[in-house]
Amino acid sequence: MKPLLLQVKVQLVNQLKSLKKSVARLTNINKFYGEGSVKVKALDELNLEVYQGDYLAVMGASGSGKSTAMNILGCLDRPTNGTYELNGTAVEKLDDDLLADIRNKELGFVFQQFHLLQEVSALENVMLPMIYACVPSLEREKRAEEALKRVGLGNRMTNLPNQLSGGQQQRVAIARAIINKPSLLLADEPTGALDSKTTEDVLNLFDQLHSQGITIVLVTHEDNVAQRAKKIARFRDGKVIEITHN
Ligand SMILES: Nc1ncnc2c1ncn2[C@@H]1O[C@H](COP(=O)(O)OP(=O)(O)OP(=O)(O)O)[C@@H](O)[C@H]1O
Ligand SMILES: [Mg+2]
Repeated sequence: MKPLLLQVKVQLVNQLKSLKKSVARLTNINKFYGEGSVKVKALDELNLEVYQGDYLAVMGASGSGKSTAMNILGCLDRPTNGTYELNGTAVEKLDDDLLADIRNKELGFVFQQFHLLQEVSALENVMLPMIYACVPSLEREKRAEEALKRVGLGNRMTNLPNQLSGGQQQRVAIARAIINKPSLLLADEPTGALDSKTTEDVLNLFDQLHSQGITIVLVTHEDNVAQRAKKIARFRDGKVIEITHN
């Protein structure tokens, strides 16, 4: 390749990089739990950026701060100090009400243990975030039905969570997490409680959501799960020590 062409290529690559839209940017985040002799530093000057369209797996030893970072990304917890910009807004400065609003509109969360409301149906579980987002009731039902069909549960909508398998419950939780079209889907060990067949179903669903443009950050201890993501961030002692591309 001629040097001039090479130069143009480098310029183009740099321009493309600068076009990547940042969804979440954690800068110099510290998080302490407890006080005095029981004080724990869970995050230590953590820096992590998530771009639109990313599918990022987070790995690292138990206690390395993965869930703490996810809870901060999900606005379920606040950093002790440092900055968190979500779509350009410095969220650590917002009061609790505004934070709850952002959590509802911008973020979807999936947990290892599903965390569904046990006393209401799959459909009502998926409708719940839309109540907080003030979506009219007819539209709530229509969108929840569509979301459940999208995750392959069109024939299980009226079942209570305990009438569903683990994988089906996790798919309800995923439908609930994406119902308000969040800019970021966060999943903390979403396949940790599932067998290998069901894990595969859930991972196929994440692939599908990613190809539809949803930005995903997923914590896992399993290599085969992490390999499905596009990038892997490795945590150690409360910081990211390495980012690799799959
Ligand atoms: N609510 C809490 N109170 C006190 N310490 C906490 C709390 N939550 C987490 N920690 C501590 O913070 C550190 C990081 O915990 P975190 O849950 O983020 O780890 P993790 O990487 O998600 O681990 P695992 O892989 O086991 O889920 C650990 O030392 C943990 O004991
Ligand atoms: Mg954890």
